[in-house]
Amino acid sequence: MDWKHLRELEFSDLPLDKEDRSILNTLAEKLQNNYPYHDVNYAGQMIKPPHILSQAAYWMSSYVNPNNHALDGGRATSELEIEVIKSVASMFGWTSSLGHLTSGGTMGNLEALWVARQANPDTVVFASKSSHYTHHRMSEVLNIPFQEIRTDISGRMDVQYLQKQLINAKTPPVVVVTMGTTGLGKVDPLAEILQLREHYEFRIHVDAAYGGYFGLCRLPSPTAIHYDSLMHVDSIVIDPHKHGLQPYGCGAVLFKNPAEGKYYKHESPYTYFTSTDLHLGEITLECSRAGSSAAALWATMQKFPLQKTGIFASRLEESLKAANGFHKTAQKMGFWSIKPELDICVFSLKAKNSSEISRLNREFFERKATNNIHLALLKLSKENCPWNLNWEQEELVVIRSVLMKPEHNDPSFWSKVLK
Ligand SMILES: Cc1ncc(COP(=O)(O)O)c(C=O)c1O
Repeated sequence: MDWKHLRELEFSDLPLDKEDRSILNTLAEKLQNNYPYHDVNYAGQMIKPPHILSQAAYWMSSYVNPNNHALDGGRATSELEIEVIKSVASMFGWTSSLGHLTSGGTMGNLEALWVARQANPDTVVFASKSSHYTHHRMSEVLNIPFQEIRTDISGRMDVQYLQKQLINAKTPPVVVVTMGTTGLGKVDPLAEILQLREHYEFRIHVDAAYGGYFGLCRLPSPTAIHYDSLMHVDSIVIDPHKHGLQPYGCGAVLFKNPAEGKYYKHESPYTYFTSTDLHLGEITLECSRAGSSAAALWATMQKFPLQKTGIFASRLEESLKAANGFHKTAQKMGFWSIKPELDICVFSLKAKNSSEISRLNREFFERKATNNIHLALLKLSKENCPWNLNWEQEELVVIRSVLMKPEHNDPSFWSKVLK
């Protein structure tokens, strides 16, 4: 449902009085103050409209208002959560893992690092310069030492540099591998990182918050090989509220070894009485969680099962094709453009000096916004920039576009953006 139509919603089946309806009308007006996220012309941040089915399922279950903390508060939706987590785990090749939904990728990553720390209280977090900023912050929250790992020019983790750090490591670290970086959409070389485990001891946490679902697509090599290696890692975060067609508030964290559930063990004097079956609160850090998130994801996955050749995968492939087509068109039209690996495009106007290029890119971004085409900007660091220019500062402002909607695979849209 496009938010522009909120004004027309009558909620006729709901027992709303006149005052309630008037408040809702005012709210509908206020909600117009947004970017047009549902429109094909919105190709800026990582924002994908939820599917109408998932919205309807969320709303339906909100009448029950289940709480998936414990079976006391959400019996049916806890079952749905266990079912969807099993399907997500099997997408990664896991048959007997542990996992649960979270409020988002940040919380999932926090839990994964926390479990790593419980497994080895002396551990250190190794994460690349391109990893999401959350890893540094959450390491601070958990009081785990953090070490930044260099990237190569493409923005992927530099495996040789990682190896040197592993040689020097005093204790087995947890290496955060990103499958789809937030800035450039690059996939860290997981298969090569796994090979290092033959010589050095370390744990691997994969942050696939954005890119996790692309494993269902036909990908070129070596990207496909890295996705096929996911079954060998220790933990994975994936965000159904990014590419999984869910409203915000739906992330997931999974652990390969179900025995790691022991780290969550705690006493609750208030809950867990209704059944000796597993209460999700016994294996989560968050307490109350919306059971409606599980209901919405379950309903969506009935319609769009996580199958390699299914309709869900083919919709994602449209985004991959969109990014590839957009990149080639940008080059033809005289832009600098970085070859996309997933569905994030990064491109720039050409000039000699970094300050001038940054200014031109900002102006382009603003001009497009006034024409109702919404893109994003990115500070590209010097070591990840493949273009020849005079550097006056360490970062270059470039244009970034996440082509998350199947409708973005349209040459007329690409030229409209780039002209
Ligand atoms: C790779 C990656 N990890 C983690 C996050 C944080 O996830 P969330 O915004 O769901 O907390 C993001 C968000 O864009 C991301 O791209």
